[in-house]
Amino acid sequence: MKTIIRGGTIISASDEYQADILIDGEVIVQIGNDIPDSEGARIINASGKLILPGGIDVHTHFDLPMFNTVSSDDHYTGHKAAAFGGTTTVLDFVPQMGENLRESVETWQKKAKQKAAIDYGFHMNISLFNDNVATQIPGLIDLGITTLKVFTAYNATLRTQDIDIFKIMRIAKKYGFLTMMHAENGDIIEILVKEALAAGNVSPIWHARTRPAWGAVEAVSRGISLSAHTGAPLYIVHMNASGEVDQLANARKSGLPIMGETCPQYLFFTEKHLERPDGAKWICSPPMRTLQDNNRLWSGIMEGNIQVFATDHCPFFYDGTKPIIYEGKEVKIPGKELGKDDFTKIPNGLPGVGDRLAVLWSEGVGKGRITSQKFVEITASNPAKIFGLYPKKGVLLPGSDADLVIWNPDKKIRYGLEWSQQRTDYNLYEGWQMTGFPDKVFLRGNCIVDGRDWLGKAGDGKYIHRKPFSQVL
Ligand code: URP
Ligand code: ZN
Ligand code: ZN
Repeated sequence: MKTIIRGGTIISASDEYQADILIDGEVIVQIGNDIPDSEGARIINASGKLILPGGIDVHTHFDLPMFNTVSSDDHYTGHKAAAFGGTTTVLDFVPQMGENLRESVETWQKKAKQKAAIDYGFHMNISLFNDNVATQIPGLIDLGITTLKVFTAYNATLRTQDIDIFKIMRIAKKYGFLTMMHAENGDIIEILVKEALAAGNVSPIWHARTRPAWGAVEAVSRGISLSAHTGAPLYIVHMNASGEVDQLANARKSGLPIMGETCPQYLFFTEKHLERPDGAKWICSPPMRTLQDNNRLWSGIMEGNIQVFATDHCPFFYDGTKPIIYEGKEVKIPGKELGKDDFTKIPNGLPGVGDRLAVLWSEGVGKGRITSQKFVEITASNPAKIFGLYPKKGVLLPGSDADLVIWNPDKKIRYGLEWSQQRTDYNLYEGWQMTGFPDKVFLRGNCIVDGRDWLGKAGDGKYIHRKPFSQVL
């Protein structure tokens, strides 16, 4: 099946130009002016619209068991929400379940394969490390996994000791993995949490007060020194504090291979949101900080010290005792109410995979903070380059997968739960005025979203085998 998209303005990470796009089957075969009609081709008129590469969200947690419940989007509902927001590829984290890494990956494959509605790949969490695990890490490459996440927080559960991170990064250097770091100071958090609870401080704001920004800054600096010692590249996930951006800027100035991502919550909200009566809705780790931190993260994006805008999508219901209707059926999943008397029991994580592009366009491009090229760079091209998907994904070129979004820059909507397709009972951007939204979304040449109609289906998403030694930007 051939498709010609006519008259749209293509936005790349460096350019903006009007051209037609010819798609044959799953790939783009030609980009140029006045591509002639070919027999049987479907013609789509995109004049007045922008054509963007399908978004890539490299940080999602679908169907993740956590805090005595599970994140409320699975590999179908989360993919569908992503697609409605213009994202066509996601990279999800495989939790390590014991010492056998292959078994953990297979468990995640089993969850995802039948449900996937967009293309997807995996990162591997390394939260239990020993010599046996060390010998298995290189074998992840055969499974298409080339990225490892380590945690310097969640002491009792996910944390990896510094000495083990050092060993993991040595392996990463040798075999071409990228290490991703959740950077907070787990020891300090542990003490501050105990003290807060002992003093009866149980409301959501104490989540932020017990996870200080300087702990995150210190952990980033630790990560940088481990990268310097091992020569392995490092990617800091969910950057949230101004000091972290300064650390990255310094390290990169000295030529160290350090990269970073931030997420919508760290640009648009502050810890003040935790003081609202419904503050639990904003509980995530690391927490959101201050306006000054928001601003420094924006400047980090502009300077190029932060390369990626992802989401850390890990949604929970606000009130999981009440069902919502999803695709005609009642669904209820325990959520933030689990911690109504104790902030440490509130499931950590936020919805965002479907909101990401609309909110960044409206607040970033629309308000003149970033250009449309920067938008494409941090939501598609850079993620593709850093995570080994380029040029199949993240760019519109002959030979690339025909993953693209026909974006209507003039479409105005009052955003919120009614628009977002995430399977939860609230939206962080309820009532926000958005200007700019997807009209149509294509995954490998198939239109999977047409306005408000869902044309995608479970099982159509392909697993992406990624290769090691991808780009350091
Ligand atoms: O609060 C968050 N971020 N939950 C997901 C797990 C993580 O640390 O990324
Ligand atoms: Zn994390
Ligand atoms: Zn995460």
